[in-house]
Amino acid sequence: MSHDKRTDADSRISRRRYVAGAGALATVAVAGCSDDPEGDAGIEDDGADDGATDDGTTDDGGEAEAGELEIVHWWTAGGEEDAYNALLDGFREEHPDVEIVDNPAPGGAGSAIDTVIQNRVLDGNPPSTFQIWPGQALTPYTDEGLLEDIGDSVWDDEMREAYLDDIVDLSQPGGDLVAVPINIHRLNNLFYNVEVLEEADVDATDIDDPQGVLDALEAVDENTDAVPMAHQTQAPWSTLQLFEAVFLGQRGTDDYLSFVEGDVESLEDEVRAALELLSEYADYYPEDAGSISWDQGNDRLIEGEAAFLHQGDWAAGQYEAADGFEFGEDWDMVPFPGSDGIYHSVIDSFVFPTNNPSPEATEQFLNYAGTVDAQERFNPIKGSIPPRTDVPTDDFGPFLSRQIDDFDASDTQPPTIAHGTAVVPAVQSELEEAFANFNDNLDIDTAYEAIRDAF
Ligand code: BGC
Repeated sequence: MSHDKRTDADSRISRRRYVAGAGALATVAVAGCSDDPEGDAGIEDDGADDGATDDGTTDDGGEAEAGELEIVHWWTAGGEEDAYNALLDGFREEHPDVEIVDNPAPGGAGSAIDTVIQNRVLDGNPPSTFQIWPGQALTPYTDEGLLEDIGDSVWDDEMREAYLDDIVDLSQPGGDLVAVPINIHRLNNLFYNVEVLEEADVDATDIDDPQGVLDALEAVDENTDAVPMAHQTQAPWSTLQLFEAVFLGQRGTDDYLSFVEGDVESLEDEVRAALELLSEYADYYPEDAGSISWDQGNDRLIEGEAAFLHQGDWAAGQYEAADGFEFGEDWDMVPFPGSDGIYHSVIDSFVFPTNNPSPEATEQFLNYAGTVDAQERFNPIKGSIPPRTDVPTDDFGPFLSRQIDDFDASDTQPPTIAHGTAVVPAVQSELEEAFANFNDNLDIDTAYEAIRDAF
């Protein structure tokens, strides 16, 4: 896709607004969020030999010396690490004098980062910067004034002009611009192994709705030895996001937004219907779903041992990193059935905590993260698309070019619960607990009540 086409398309999109997802929700104080949202069960070992322990702390010596740029993030799995390293390489080229202290808190979807970061920020001992979703996830920090306003220092006119308006909005939940988004992932993807589906005699493009997904899983189960759905239940976020996908596929964006605004009771039948179907999908997860991470599940799809996976397109970053696993020939994706015109968005950003150990280097890093160069290096490897509208996308490859077309053509780009843009962290962690229990017992009554009470 040409640079110009992307720019033209985006100037159209940039006038489109995200429908505000959760503006009416009460905000919470940081102190109220310091619980580990997932308990021990939520801490994932991604299997990576990255110097990180399984409890989310790091064993690499931890914090930086004064002046060093310490970055806390959770990009250690799949192709995530390659994308992060590409970002750092670009930064180092521009600022060779800055010493970077890489301090990962591994765990898919940030399942281990919260505790580390909240404690450090509250103690006045923050890292230079950390990975966080923009939108509601920022509010415990902005409510307490724990993030610097970078509206003048980083967000100059050139940058504001280049970013999608909706993404700028998500970066200022409390009024001040406090975050620099670097990517946009799509969440409502159904990835599949092409050969396994052929063997199962299933055509993914023929699946019309979430019920059809169940029929396809049954067909894979009957006709092949593969695991129908490479889903992980070790940490609850993947089931929460699958619930979001099923609900969006069944009900569409309007009902979904009513749900994230907390209007659960008037949607009781709809929520129960989504839970019912989800409980039937569970027959088709791997036997060891409770002890694998998302990328270990995805490895099975790559190996031809699994048919489908519902994940954000970070999963595509992992396919790109795998040898000889080609888009179109070996893997492909359809929008989660029923949610075609929806681009369910997940965004990552970096922030400038107050009491910063390295103000100058932090500002340099945030400035860099907001550039064309950073986003051109990072996104094609990560499996995401840039939030700036002027990034040349010629090297983004056929899959991401299709995602860009889908984004540009999408009717709505709703925020996500499992990845923090839509609801405040306190609500998110209640919902995660509901789905942790649901993973264990598949009890629809209990899950419905817990979901209702979460808001
Ligand atoms: C982040 C992605 C990441 C994924 C899995 C999401 O919450 O936004 O960048 O790849 O979690 O760890």
